[in-house]
Amino acid sequence: MSGFKIAVLPGDGIGPEVVKQGVKVLETIGKLFHHGFEIQFGLIGGAALDEKGVPLPDETWELCQKADAILLGAVGGPKWDDLPSHMRPEKALLKLREGLKLFANIRPVKFYPNLAFSSPLKENLLKGVDLVIVRELTGGLYFGKPKGRFEENGKVYAVDTMYYTYEEIERIAKVAFELARNRKKKVTSVDKANVLETSRLWREVVQKVASRYPDITLEHMYVDNCAMQLVKNPAQFDVILTENTFGDILSDEAAVITGSIGMLPSASLGEGLKGLYEPIHGSAPDIAGMNIANPLGTILSVALLLRYSLRLEKEANAIEDAVEKVIADGFMTKDLYLNNPSAKKLVSTEEMGDIVV
Ligand code: NAI
Ligand code: MG
Repeated sequence: MSGFKIAVLPGDGIGPEVVKQGVKVLETIGKLFHHGFEIQFGLIGGAALDEKGVPLPDETWELCQKADAILLGAVGGPKWDDLPSHMRPEKALLKLREGLKLFANIRPVKFYPNLAFSSPLKENLLKGVDLVIVRELTGGLYFGKPKGRFEENGKVYAVDTMYYTYEEIERIAKVAFELARNRKKKVTSVDKANVLETSRLWREVVQKVASRYPDITLEHMYVDNCAMQLVKNPAQFDVILTENTFGDILSDEAAVITGSIGMLPSASLGEGLKGLYEPIHGSAPDIAGMNIANPLGTILSVALLLRYSLRLEKEANAIEDAVEKVIADGFMTKDLYLNNPSAKKLVSTEEMGDIVV
């Protein structure tokens, strides 16, 4: 009986609704497999701004520092859009990732046969898609300095800097190659080496890391081509390794493969076992409070939490199998249900959580 500390940060919009389902599933796993999960809730994002005046209160930071793993919903929404950038809800997430040194974002994308009609792509393109995007998370454009808005001689301009060190590229590349070892043994490194100096360094370092993994095939691909290949022939990919901004964009694009952005989980990892787990979607203010959001991305994030931070592979598989079965049985939230002849029953957020349980 192991006492794992899990920090749970529901956040804003649909965050609390989907996280509630994830917690239900986590508690069920605890009962079935006899683990003591110590679940502690914290404020983050707009919810924290409203109550404490800051997007990441000290208590939440301490909670996350002490935790073995963190489960997060989503942050942000129109209510806080006009705040200066250092006060915005999204800043809390960037601070958490940076502060906990979570440099590796892992986003598995898998095709479920019953969701072929939920995707705008043709079924024959989707068959066999099982890929994972490994996105560098604490470098590149989102963090590089100089950054900001400036005025000089009456001219206003803005600067973001794409900055990468050799070590930053090396450690994320290792994550991708290690993952590929237990998969289809192929890494596609995505860059823009024909234009960007950071990409040229990226390519060089990835090539070096690859020489230590002779069992893995490495290919390089330009990001614009990769964007096209993801919809043209997504089954060609195994592990996609890329920098922060490219990975952000490509993973949303890859979400159409599963039929809904509500399906995709993510793990953010550092050197140790501690990780931050969240669905890839945002707070979806347009459907918040309606009990229609798809909680499966969050529930699958709980599976990743069990696998990567707690090393509970059997338990992680149990969740993934349950999700697969629920979809195969035709239970779908609205985002998957519409125009899908494989759908048998339209279910709410709460009902979906219960059915997985
Ligand atoms: P979004 O991901 O929240 O929503 C995009 C579209 O997908 C919307 O139509 C939404 O209804 C739908 N959607 C998202 N999740 C869904 C789910 N689980 N089930 C069914 N439909 C779902 O992205 P958007 O609209 O660009 O951003 C909304 C807010 O979320 C913004 O404030 C943004 O900054 C924030 N955001 C936060 C993120 C995070 O916390 N990690 C990531 C992305 C955005
Ligand atoms: Mg994004």
